[in-house]
Amino acid sequence: MSITTAGGRSGLPSYDEARQKITTASLRERKLRHEPITCLTAYDYPSARLIDQAGIDMILVGDSLAQAVLGYENTLSVTMDEMLHHVKAVRRGVKHALLLADMPYGSYHVDAESALSNATRFVKEGGAEVVKIEGGEKRADLIRRIIDAEIPVAGHIGLTPQSVNVMGGYKVQGKNLRGIEQLMRDAVALDRAGVCCIVLEGIPREVAAIITSEVETPTIGIGAGPECDGQVLVFHDILNLTFAPPAKFVRRYADAAALIAKAVQDFKADVKSLQYPGDAESYHLPKETKAGLDTAQSRKKVTREKSGNAVELNFDIAQGKLRHGVN
Ligand code: KIV
Repeated sequence: MSITTAGGRSGLPSYDEARQKITTASLRERKLRHEPITCLTAYDYPSARLIDQAGIDMILVGDSLAQAVLGYENTLSVTMDEMLHHVKAVRRGVKHALLLADMPYGSYHVDAESALSNATRFVKEGGAEVVKIEGGEKRADLIRRIIDAEIPVAGHIGLTPQSVNVMGGYKVQGKNLRGIEQLMRDAVALDRAGVCCIVLEGIPREVAAIITSEVETPTIGIGAGPECDGQVLVFHDILNLTFAPPAKFVRRYADAAALIAKAVQDFKADVKSLQYPGDAESYHLPKETKAGLDTAQSRKKVTREKSGNAVELNFDIAQGKLRHGVN
């Protein structure tokens, strides 16, 4: 493979060393200044680098990794070890953005001790700066304990994909007064618990607007309308790499699927038609070695000793003997 070290490559923005590192404090400042916060998911080193270099504020290694990259049916199957593997890769590509790791299903549901130990792994082994936990009111005590262990937490309420079986599908939440009341309680509980941001997923715009104005914590919307303090989307969604019809809130900014399919087809066609590799894409001998080899070849004695399919070629080369045998 071709390898590039940090420092950019023509056509791509290079790292801006002077750019400010985004911290949890920066998110609060943004909310106070009414400056929209940007967030995208990333699951690997190259996408993390590109997203970071583009100046996105937050990078989330979401458990959407389960479907987007690992081909699982939903987020329930992805494990701590799988998540950690990807968090480490993303960490290596991020310099400025705030790095969030999603706590996968089962990693914080059993007991507080295992939740704390899993959150700690994301920080210690993965280099994450924040962990994200789904659920509001019912997770507030656990979230406090994790924050007490010096780990910032991002909340996530509304359509929480890890609750898919309880919700009976991926359904917009907070569409009736009871649902709105629960969302408000969840948001306030997270705000009081001291989360650094609250992801609002799949809720009516009007409800997200009320929550955003009621809580001091920055809200990051996904399918929650434009009044949130920031927006997050799944990287593979904005690039048409998800092999499924997009949700209503997804805006596709590029068709990477078409781009990749064409590149792969073109490579195949070039190899089949002997157009690839060309001379310029091949390595060459140094001049002197080439001259020596040409001389040797012009003197070569080709002895064909046919016994079955066996063929033996003997080359006399200036500095010794090379025997090239095919038996
Ligand atoms: O896993 C994920 O990608 C997420 C975002 C959709 C917020 O949780």
